[in-house]
Amino acid sequence: MKFSVVTIFPQIIWANLEFGILGKAIDKEKIEVSTYDPRDYSKSPTKRVDDKPFGGGSGMVMEAGPIIKAVEEAKKKSIDAHVIYLSPQGKLFNQEKAKELADKSNIILISGRYEGVDQRVVDHIVDEEISIGDYVLSGGEIASLILIDSISRQIEGVVGDFQSVEDDSLYDGLLKHPQYTRPEESEYGVVPKILLSGNHESIRSWKIKKSLENTMKKRPDLLEKANLDKEKKKVLGQIKKDEEKT
Ligand code: ADE
Repeated sequence: MKFSVVTIFPQIIWANLEFGILGKAIDKEKIEVSTYDPRDYSKSPTKRVDDKPFGGGSGMVMEAGPIIKAVEEAKKKSIDAHVIYLSPQGKLFNQEKAKELADKSNIILISGRYEGVDQRVVDHIVDEEISIGDYVLSGGEIASLILIDSISRQIEGVVGDFQSVEDDSLYDGLLKHPQYTRPEESEYGVVPKILLSGNHESIRSWKIKKSLENTMKKRPDLLEKANLDKEKKKVLGQIKKDEEKT
């Protein structure tokens, strides 16, 4: 998978790709990242890439030309690239979208700054507008990094043990069960006995139950949308029944 990020602050991208799983994924050539700076395509002697909005209004708008030229340059090295513009006006990003985008081989991420980009960028060259949440960031770089991280995790070989990706919260639309590690007992409490029992079947059932309880308590909206299998539906029914009793 190749990511090309269009940004006037490539350092924000590179500084965050040195570490952990993403750093290893680049070293192992599971993912490739390139950056394209619109300033390199600015016609102004001072490399300016923004200007005042027509019709008045606050702030500055990024010009279409330098961004479109940067995307076109990125496209030369990325066959069939899918072009995403990160903006608070986009469709909300989620795990399902991360999985869907992991099937692409080339993704171009346009990270805007200032009050946004000239609409002609969106109309001319963008396939999809994505927001990472209902809040406004100072720029799209952090949003681009979030997409790179979550999409990369879905690519085989990026996370050493793919089972741990399948076990992630939200992989199947639910939150994960609580987790514990050594020591078994401390001043902060004890580990649930069942996890120490060695009984794989009981442990599996406990994890399903706790995942459902967790989701019900913290994100009931997810539970409504989740595509539960027969076993999970049954467990959820039991949890609800037990709740009614108490
Ligand atoms: N740029 C500024 N705010 C953003 C958001 N919420 N999502 C994606 N890109 C953005």
